[in-house]
Amino acid sequence: MTQVTSSTARRSSFQFDLSDAEFQRISKLAHQKYGLCLPDSKKALVYSRLSKRLRALGLSSFSDYCNLLSDDTSEEQTQLLTALTTNVTQFFREAHHFEALKKHVFPGLMTRARQGEAIRIWSAGCSSGQEPYSIAMCLLDFAPDAPKLDVRIKATDIDPQILRTARAGLYPTESFDAVPTQIRQADTRAVDGTNSEVSERIKGLVDFSELNLVSNWPTEPQCDVIFCRNVAIYFDAETKAALWDRFRRALRNDGHLFIGHSERLDRKTDTGFATIGVTAFRKTSPTGKGSSQ
Ligand SMILES: C[S@@+](CC[C@H](N)C(=O)[O-])C[C@H]1O[C@@H](n2cnc3c(N)ncnc32)[C@H](O)[C@@H]1O
Repeated sequence: MTQVTSSTARRSSFQFDLSDAEFQRISKLAHQKYGLCLPDSKKALVYSRLSKRLRALGLSSFSDYCNLLSDDTSEEQTQLLTALTTNVTQFFREAHHFEALKKHVFPGLMTRARQGEAIRIWSAGCSSGQEPYSIAMCLLDFAPDAPKLDVRIKATDIDPQILRTARAGLYPTESFDAVPTQIRQADTRAVDGTNSEVSERIKGLVDFSELNLVSNWPTEPQCDVIFCRNVAIYFDAETKAALWDRFRRALRNDGHLFIGHSERLDRKTDTGFATIGVTAFRKTSPTGKGSSQ
């Protein structure tokens, strides 16, 4: 693919001109609103993703697009995020995390739930729902009595459109291939020749809502488990560090954090988490200072 490099050159192969100043406006907004990190090396990617938006909106220049984005009430700001990030997800993605849940996390949590405690699990950046539904499936497989207890899975994403798909719980049948057979037989149902849906008892454990992780969060009780996988990949180091710290504060003592396979907590500073497996952590310190890794 040809690179978009020059601030002034208008190339015949490109329908629109994206000046350096316009690119800076877009990357500044994406950083301030969503924590996205868009260095100059991402200019070609930004051009290719956003020129589709310009065409869809019938705009003739990036200047018009920047003006549209500068209106804080414009839905285009969310469309910008959707265009620049990916919603790719799948059932039982990074299967070792679900093994870790069953081995290290659910035994203690379910003991507490059966003693009447509220248990809260958060899938942050849940995309189309496969992640929170996988957590619910794994939980029900481990503890069939979970629906009778005060156990809830909160699933949030910034993208309202993807949340509609998540709530419906309807997916191409082959996307359930990664679901363990016993669970698939118990908790999915074919609705036609190509699609299947997750069962009502699985859906009933999950509450979906819209949330920008790089903004204020509603005050809620602390969580026992947070999954935030393959979301912070888009954020710069500072935004990531701030997010891990907010997650630590949102977790109860001894709560667990699961992050994506290409993500890392900053090992140079004390994060307040101890490693319990690959990209899986247990909160060790309420302050993030003075605990051992
Ligand atoms: C690649 S998907 C990851 C889905 C799932 N966690 C997984 O690992 O399979 C990334 C999701 O993060 C969401 N996202 C990106 N930036 C976000 C932000 N600032 N706040 C909340 N969600 C965000 C996107 O909308 C997208 O659905």
